[in-house]
Amino acid sequence: MRKAVLLLLMITGQQMLSAQKTASIVGAGKEINPYKYSVVKKANFSKAAVSSAHPLASMVGVAMMKNGGNAFDAAIATQLTLAVVYPGAGNIGGGGFLLGRKADGELIGIDYREAAPEKASRDMYLDKNGNVQMALSQSGHLASGIPGTIAGLFATLPYAKLPFKQLIQPAIDLAEKGFVISEREASSLNATKESFSKSSTRPTAFVKENKWKAGDTLIQKDLAATLKRIQQKGAPGFYEGETAKLIVDEMLRGNGIISLDDLKNYTAKLRSPLAFDYRGHRIISFAPPSSGGIIIAQMLKMIEKYPVSSYGFQTTKSVQLMIEAERRAFADRAEHMGDPDFYHVPVKTLMSEAYIAQRMSDYYPDKAGISNMVKAGAIKESEETTHLSVMDAAGNMVSVTTTLNGGYGSRTVVGGAGFLLNNEMDDFSVKPGVPNMYGAVGGEANAISPGKRMLSSMTPTLVLKNNKPYVVIGTPGGTTIPTSVYQAIVNIIDFNMNADDAINKPKFHHQWLPDEVAVEKDFDIEVKKQLQAMGYKISERGAIGRTEAIRILSNGKRETVADKRGDDSVAGF
Ligand code: DON
Repeated sequence: MRKAVLLLLMITGQQMLSAQKTASIVGAGKEINPYKYSVVKKANFSKAAVSSAHPLASMVGVAMMKNGGNAFDAAIATQLTLAVVYPGAGNIGGGGFLLGRKADGELIGIDYREAAPEKASRDMYLDKNGNVQMALSQSGHLASGIPGTIAGLFATLPYAKLPFKQLIQPAIDLAEKGFVISEREASSLNATKESFSKSSTRPTAFVKENKWKAGDTLIQKDLAATLKRIQQKGAPGFYEGETAKLIVDEMLRGNGIISLDDLKNYTAKLRSPLAFDYRGHRIISFAPPSSGGIIIAQMLKMIEKYPVSSYGFQTTKSVQLMIEAERRAFADRAEHMGDPDFYHVPVKTLMSEAYIAQRMSDYYPDKAGISNMVKAGAIKESEETTHLSVMDAAGNMVSVTTTLNGGYGSRTVVGGAGFLLNNEMDDFSVKPGVPNMYGAVGGEANAISPGKRMLSSMTPTLVLKNNKPYVVIGTPGGTTIPTSVYQAIVNIIDFNMNADDAINKPKFHHQWLPDEVAVEKDFDIEVKKQLQAMGYKISERGAIGRTEAIRILSNGKRETVADKRGDDSVAGF
């Protein structure tokens, strides 16, 4: 009897505990008020910090760390929140990469990149004349790979401390009760209205009769129900049962090919992170199927033997050198990189000192290289994504880049499930030599094959100084991702900049093909003219990247910054 009472007490106690644990922290007057919040671009925090694309997402991540969680808890909760408050790129219908370094030095790489469905085939986007049907790889049902995000979050969970139920609760509340949208979100939803309607077969929360305006509340009931199924059932709440059925029903109503088996068989994969040294710092980044880690290693190693700091920040001399490194690394991307489970990526060679020295042997500091002549090295051995950077009090560092690919992905909302599917299939090389949405070309290494993961540019990165945590960094931006991370690292290490300047100064980008340099509007006009005189074709473009960075100062404070280019915002304590 006493035993039974004790048991009853224990059960009630546990129920109370879990009820308490999943109690809402979101709502008017609560810890996080979704009806009144503001963007914070930078702050120095003593213990823990998050920088992400949305103020509410950063605040939720920080709340988890305040309530006993670590950086991994924050990364999970922030991603789930982004899936609600930042539908253009935050997602449960897409994929991503998580790069972590535990306080004890253990490195963790979780690959939850989308995979091609079983029914996918190499020429699936070519018409009978062999021409690419871009519309099919970029929007609508056929553009989606099998979503990886929920598998990725559950693969992260063993490194976290709090129950998943608690980590997902704020996202559920935000979807169910709504949150106030910004001017930027309103105009972005308005601009996408037609393609939501064209690519979705059921009414969606993103389309309303009148125009969205800043201050409107976005409520997503179907998404809340999906998140609750995941809360109750774990990953099978997404990959099996009701949600899986809703995804497949949506596929059947469109021209999609994702099947119940595709969903059930999807797994996140552990990937050993890539690490290399640059001017006395240890840089850690993501391995294939990301091209990012290899590309930043190549670019930094190519410029390391030059006294870049003495050239000066964004002088013609330093920019020209950095462009030539970009050209060469991107030529290698097109030829040698793809899913390592399907294609042998010669990672060691591509990152070796000898290979990199040879790649720069035809570099001339006074004239533009020519991409047609800078082919990929011979190897003998055979806009919309989002980033979050997290650092906790114990010294765990987490860098996550996650994506639907284009803004709002395929624009297909899963009927009854309320979330957007990715258009990641376009990241494959749909036909050798034909540029994708980001102008990237590829061939055999990145050809479509069932179960294969499409090559990515996402580059979640960590930097150590004296073997201690120094910088957590990453960005969206398609092929401009590795160049943005590269330039921010050079700004910090070579030009001694603080994190704010390092991410917010103008950027330039060369990706081998097309053979031109894209620069942001505020790029120095004189340097531009001098580069043109050397033979560079230069085009101006909109914002490059939205980088989120945390840098540890010598006094231990976390200098936390969010890119000026969006609603990106920091939080911490
Ligand atoms: O994985 C990739 O490389 C792309 N799907 C990333 C897309 C992206 O960054 C768009 N954001 N602006």
